[in-house]
Amino acid sequence: MLTVRNLELHYGGIAALRGISIDVQKGETVLLVGANGAGKSSLINAVIGLVASSQGVMSFNGKDITRASCDARARAGIGYSPEGRRVFPTMSVRDNVLSGACRRGAVLQRDAWQWLCGIFPLLSERSEHPAGQLSGGQQQVVAIARAMASSPKLLLLDEPFLGLAPVWIARISEAIRHMQSRGTTILMTEQMARPALKLATRGYVVRGGEIRRSGSIEEIREVALAEEYL
Ligand SMILES: Nc1ncnc2c1ncn2[C@@H]1O[C@H](COP(=O)(O)OP(=O)(O)O)[C@@H](O)[C@H]1O
Ligand SMILES: [Mg+2]
Repeated sequence: MLTVRNLELHYGGIAALRGISIDVQKGETVLLVGANGAGKSSLINAVIGLVASSQGVMSFNGKDITRASCDARARAGIGYSPEGRRVFPTMSVRDNVLSGACRRGAVLQRDAWQWLCGIFPLLSERSEHPAGQLSGGQQQVVAIARAMASSPKLLLLDEPFLGLAPVWIARISEAIRHMQSRGTTILMTEQMARPALKLATRGYVVRGGEIRRSGSIEEIREVALAEEYL
């Protein structure tokens, strides 16, 4: 579904990604694990088109997206939940979530809202609250629900657990499992390897802008856990 080949990314003169190649097949949950500064967000942001790569090729469902706009990638079916639970703080919870489905008609938006409230009761409980007033875990739910509202084919989750209490990690994990059961393909990043290893089918260990290890969860588990303490 997603193929990245020899991706290079620079900020000014500094290389953040060097020769990155990854694959995500339909139905998989692939984990990018690595310490802070490893290059995980840079890779996710390159896939959604927020930052331009200086070299390399990316394709999605067989189409070259290397130079496609963010908007074109979203229309092609790539959904994105950014690191640091970025919600629109003064907008209501409902409007935050529905902003993720703004290209869909009113009926589809209503369906998406009802479906998401069924998964996350807090959305209906807090629907008219400004999202900025919610707790960190609640904001993460809003950010993920917004990404899910467009029913993406590929969902990018950048550090969904970062800074969250265990109870919220458990709830977000449940939501990720729910999407897996719907057949959503997921590419997620985490520095907190432990809960993420329970969700993914395959993974890549990233360090210093390079892939250091790849394989099944069993194959990368030890290296991934060691990376947590760097
Ligand atoms: N906007 C930016 N400008 C300059 N350097 C950046 C920027 N974003 C990230 N970097 C640098 O790129 C490297 C990778 O960062 P990042 O992709 O955010 O890593 P991670 O998400 O794994 O923590 C780090 O050295 C970071 O300091
Ligand atoms: Mg990051």
